[in-house]
Amino acid sequence: MKQHVVVYKSLPADLQDRLESEFEVTSFESINAGNREAFIAALGTAHGMIGASLPITNDMLDGAPLLTIASTISVGVDNFDLAYFRRRGLMLAHTPGVLNEATADTIFSLILASARRIVELAELVKAGKWTGSIGESLFGVNVHGKTLGMLGMGRIGSAVARRAHHGFGMKIIYHNTRPNPEAEKELAATYVSREELFRQADFVCPMLPLTPQTERTIGAQEFSLMKASAIFINASRGKIVDEAALIDALRKKTIYGAGLDVFEKEPLSADSPLLQLPNVVALPHIGSATHETRRAMAELAVQNLIDGLRGAQPQHLAV
Ligand code: DGY
Repeated sequence: MKQHVVVYKSLPADLQDRLESEFEVTSFESINAGNREAFIAALGTAHGMIGASLPITNDMLDGAPLLTIASTISVGVDNFDLAYFRRRGLMLAHTPGVLNEATADTIFSLILASARRIVELAELVKAGKWTGSIGESLFGVNVHGKTLGMLGMGRIGSAVARRAHHGFGMKIIYHNTRPNPEAEKELAATYVSREELFRQADFVCPMLPLTPQTERTIGAQEFSLMKASAIFINASRGKIVDEAALIDALRKKTIYGAGLDVFEKEPLSADSPLLQLPNVVALPHIGSATHETRRAMAELAVQNLIDGLRGAQPQHLAV
């Protein structure tokens, strides 16, 4: 008998066909209030599951006694309780690597857009308000030659730092769980304490996974260390930041601005105070969202799932 796979985010047609040629497949384009019960019921006979952007609770998995692997189409695994996976001996596969460059491009666009006020000024032009040479009140600040502070210098952090060093002549400082000798050699990056990073950087860019240890790890204390001219960039996870403290720092101009791709609660509510602040550039969690990269992530996630179900070791296991 074929093994049963539950797909909970739509896949490219050829990858869907690939799964259907080998497994019995139940598919949902995405999960919402209307199909949640059906999704949970389908897990009841599932050997594998694949999808993204949905918190998978232990309750859901308790009802999936046959499950051996969950394959997420993301590098982040914060939608799962890793301890639960370990307890049950389940595999959790994810998609690191293939999204590094697209995510670094998003981060760099946030750096440029916030420093040069690209969104605000583009809106001014579209509104027909460009009536003469812009004055000093609409000038931005330089990016080239400034100091980038990477809190987390892993794969994506290094890709951001490469752009900053080679493309923009920026000085790189970083703080990480352990020093990164390649980044130090290739990018002249300097390891500093966490506190020094917040004090010295012109752009503070955390690139941390969301874990119980990193939840709200950046708050009022950290924003108070930053320069009044510094910009905060976040495209990792919104919950690593105390968002109320960030809003307070932006309102009081303790910091100059923020470029954000991620938020405490997503989608960001239309009445979020962040959207009232001219010194904020907000994006709808697009880190890896290019056609090519999302395709590569889906391919990798499907391969991870197939390997796991065939009894082989998937290439990328978080657990
Ligand atoms: C990831 O891959 O973790 C991206 O942030 C999408 O969630």
